[in-house]
Amino acid sequence: MSGPILIFDSGVGGLSVVAAILKRLPEAALCYACDNAMLPYGTKPDDWLVARILDVCQAAVAASQASALVVACNTASTLALEALRARLAIPVIGTVPAIKPAAAASRSGHLALLATSATVHRPYTRRLIEDFAGDSRVVRLAADPLVGQAERLLAGDPVDERVIADCLAPLWEDPALDTVVLGCTHFPLLARALAEAAPRPITWVDSGDAIARRLAQVVAPLPRAEGAGSEGHRAAWVTAPNASLTAVLAGYGFAVPERLTVLTTAFEA
Ligand code: DGL
Repeated sequence: MSGPILIFDSGVGGLSVVAAILKRLPEAALCYACDNAMLPYGTKPDDWLVARILDVCQAAVAASQASALVVACNTASTLALEALRARLAIPVIGTVPAIKPAAAASRSGHLALLATSATVHRPYTRRLIEDFAGDSRVVRLAADPLVGQAERLLAGDPVDERVIADCLAPLWEDPALDTVVLGCTHFPLLARALAEAAPRPITWVDSGDAIARRLAQVVAPLPRAEGAGSEGHRAAWVTAPNASLTAVLAGYGFAVPERLTVLTTAFEA
């Protein structure tokens, strides 16, 4: 049997992608790895991040015997996709901001990209906007504190509405803005809180379903889950085991995660 599809993120954000994949491909065999010891990625320097992402993904692919890797992290994908494809022998599917569908969805042509600091400043992101939203007005807004809010929410803690309102405030300066790209996989987990914080209806666009469709094209036939439906039938790896994350993963059908040992030098702030 071919190995499962490995979903990777810095933290719980990749679970928004897991949910989108399972909605379209409910029988897909999935496993999960996250580098929660080094969360968040979005405020760390590129050269350190590339080395770290390569080491974590290589270790997780080896541990899981995965047949494909979904990098369910915009911050990692806009930086390290080429390096990952060069390092790994399996297909690598990335997650990048859904600029194209957002430009198509907007009536006013005024959009915003909400993402981590790293993602909003990347040349990759600038090219995406030039190539797919050249006729639109696109504001790029870094919203790193939302990553922590999504982590809190999934861990069962209330979100801080003030933090969310402050992150979104610059968006409302443009009364014509009607569409927001959620360019961080953590942000769809906050969908309800984001909609509640908006002063008017907004179209929120994320990449989850596009990744599921791409996965079905690239990996055929898809590995199917054995024992699907049984609790904890999906394997998981984390870099800093803790009870709260174990409970969050269990909610998505994942087993108690194993510790992933990665040799990269720890990040010194
Ligand atoms: N979920 C990740 C993304 O899609 C990044 C969160 C972080 O900063 O670690 O960009």
